[in-house]
Amino acid sequence: METFGESTATAAPPVAELHLHIEGTLQPELIFALAERNGIQLPYADLDELRALYEFTDLQSFLNLYYANMAVLQTEQDFADLTRAYLARAAAGGVRHVEVMMDPQAHVSRGIALETCVNGVASALTTSEEEFGVSSLLIAAFLRDMSEESALDVLEQLLAMDAPIAGIGLDSAEVGNPPSKFERLYRRAEEAGLHRIAHAGEEGPASYVYEALDLLGVERIDHGIRCMEDSVLVDRLVAEQIPLTVCPLSNVRLRAVDTLADHPLPAMLAAGLNVSVNSDDPAYFGGYVDDNFAQLVAVHELSARDRARLASNSVRSSFAGEARKAELLAEVAEWEKAAGA
Ligand code: HPA
Ligand code: ZN
Repeated sequence: METFGESTATAAPPVAELHLHIEGTLQPELIFALAERNGIQLPYADLDELRALYEFTDLQSFLNLYYANMAVLQTEQDFADLTRAYLARAAAGGVRHVEVMMDPQAHVSRGIALETCVNGVASALTTSEEEFGVSSLLIAAFLRDMSEESALDVLEQLLAMDAPIAGIGLDSAEVGNPPSKFERLYRRAEEAGLHRIAHAGEEGPASYVYEALDLLGVERIDHGIRCMEDSVLVDRLVAEQIPLTVCPLSNVRLRAVDTLADHPLPAMLAAGLNVSVNSDDPAYFGGYVDDNFAQLVAVHELSARDRARLASNSVRSSFAGEARKAELLAEVAEWEKAAGA
């Protein structure tokens, strides 16, 4: 019988994607299509000129382009089309559940109504399980380089309009904007019965991870890779099995690590940390979850068991209901059996 090497398709197990910014799924082709639909003059002549800008030196250099490109998102339909394009691509790469972050302040601050952006994304998520086999929920992320008053104001508006959000997150420029700046915001979210997550330890120090846990009461840490600089913190994260939503290709493209070969993910797994693999902003960082797995496997030779563990971590760390989790854990077990055979 002819044997085949492991294909890209089987490199990635079925997963829950827990760290995904919907605005970061805006592909260059869609930027041009939406600009044309909305009569917007882009500052780039063509796709090549735009793509040439995807060379980042740090988080801020990426954020500058990420926020600028949002100008093409104008109508509810634009947000729905963006979300559906992500769901179709993610489903093809093995994503079975997704917790989508969006940045409402980034839209409201440029004159887009909160209803427009939230309803547009939410309308596509409503049918995601039926259309794509991907269960989903929505998380409103707040920009940490803006004031806590602004975040509180937008959160109150979201609550008043009964927006279908399951939780809140904290993103954008990390260094100099510690979690401690947002204690009131997270207390209000807790009161409102919302889940709470925050980016910490991407570019910022390990102390921001402690702050997110102890001052904000977060249930998950987005990124968290710099925890590896503090062994006391690692011991605590292992003991409490705090989920860390790691994004390897993002970390390489934003130069949080030098190369994928230097990425701490294998060491984090070996330490017993509750890590998962996620894409962050796949249109900007060179790949979706399956691409992250394929490139990790190429460099680190993660075993099928390692990959199944990353996948089951993602499912267990999600905010999906218990029945959905059980269904997806069974799929992961089946995948492991087939991949390991
Ligand atoms: N880090 C912080 N903020 C972000 C990111 C990220 O990787 N992507 C979108 N907003
Ligand atoms: Zn992120």
